[in-house]
Amino acid sequence: MQHKESKDLMNVLILGSGGREHALSWKIAQSPKLDKLYIAPGNAGTCNEGTNINLKPTDFEGIKTFVLSSNIDMVVVGPEDPLVNGIHDYFAEDEALNHIGIVGPKAEGAQLEGSKEFAKRFMIKHGIPTAAYQSFTVDAIREGHTFLETLNPPYVLKADGLAAGKGVVILNDLEAAKVELTDMLESEKFGEASAKVVIEEFLDGIELSVFALSDGINYKILPSAKDYKRIGEGDTGLNTGGMGAVSPVPFADADFILKVEEQVIRPTFEGLKEDGIEYSGLLYFGLINVGGEPVVIEYNIRFGDPEAEAVIPRIETDLLDLFEAVCDKRLSELDLTIDSSATATVMLVSQGYPGSYEKGKEINGLGDAGESIAFHAGTKLVEDKIITNGGRVIAVTSFGENIEQALETSYANAERIKFEGKNLRRDIGYDLKVGIQAE
Ligand code: AMP
Ligand code: GLY
Repeated sequence: MQHKESKDLMNVLILGSGGREHALSWKIAQSPKLDKLYIAPGNAGTCNEGTNINLKPTDFEGIKTFVLSSNIDMVVVGPEDPLVNGIHDYFAEDEALNHIGIVGPKAEGAQLEGSKEFAKRFMIKHGIPTAAYQSFTVDAIREGHTFLETLNPPYVLKADGLAAGKGVVILNDLEAAKVELTDMLESEKFGEASAKVVIEEFLDGIELSVFALSDGINYKILPSAKDYKRIGEGDTGLNTGGMGAVSPVPFADADFILKVEEQVIRPTFEGLKEDGIEYSGLLYFGLINVGGEPVVIEYNIRFGDPEAEAVIPRIETDLLDLFEAVCDKRLSELDLTIDSSATATVMLVSQGYPGSYEKGKEINGLGDAGESIAFHAGTKLVEDKIITNGGRVIAVTSFGENIEQALETSYANAERIKFEGKNLRRDIGYDLKVGIQAE
């Protein structure tokens, strides 16, 4: 990445509009290397950190025009869609844009999230532990049914493509699983995404997320986190984008993380190199701890949300320094320092989410969040009012000596933020032995 010669300060554009992007902008805004920060499209929180720009993250031409007129030096891509659609390639192939750093992989590497089948084949090829699987298209429904008969319940069916986190169905009943497979393939229940379906072995264990930042040559492992995907307490009910997160994960001690590095992270980055895929940016390893051994459920090619709201505040190293090193392929020169405190994030959501919900409710008490950070997820500024503008509305993050303390602070301050229909899970961290000192 080349910078303007007149100064070392950078102009940065963040793409996205959720809690993850607020956390990214909150952290980048603290960098002494920052000149101007823009967020497209952003929300009512990100406009306190920089300037919101009314552009869709997938509008590459609009982004090009903006980036050139505003002398942007770096684009940080929050969500997966622009990456899977090739925003990094679009910049790299354009002479006017190819000096600009993009934090996020090119389309080839983005298939790790963009196609479940690609990810499964990659893992099997490189000996990375994952659930046994087979994939089926519409002309092989019968074979799919036969494969289901060979498995033990529960049955895990996954739409191959991007389905906004909704493309995974887990069923206990064999007949219901067969009907679901037919629905997914024949009537493309998840649109194009379910033109192909991956059926895999059910993994029994506790989930966690581990993140690594790569410059295509080296990588750094970021703090682990655990998110809570179901809407209901005790992990019941429908899947959501995530109702809360804690970091670090108490059972993911140094020995476990070493196993993750040796069995998953290193073989993944080596496998990418072996396959000639240059991967830079963030890689999210969705893992399940099966009897003390890490097994990969999924890769994501971006920060998790709400994991980002718990993990980013613990990163002490200047994030812009880290991202610049990613773009310049000199990550190995940097030291990554992590706050030894724990963090806990509690998501405040709209009544009805993840089903249908109303928007436009006025949010009050954001100034009373005390020592917690109120990251905005689905919010909008209308005149001088902040209103709800999504299912997930505010992510309340707090530090603590341990997860228990961090949770206590987040819950106390979550009470102070008010909007009609506010809902939250009161049991974030319930399945972990809280009280354990952070690593
Ligand atoms: P994914 O979109 O692949 O992360 O899947 C969504 C959720 O489904 C995961 O967070 C897990 O809770 C669950 N899941 C996915 N694959 C499996 C599996 N093979 N065994 C058990 N649970 C799974
Ligand atoms: N919290 C899960 C995800 O971002 O995919």
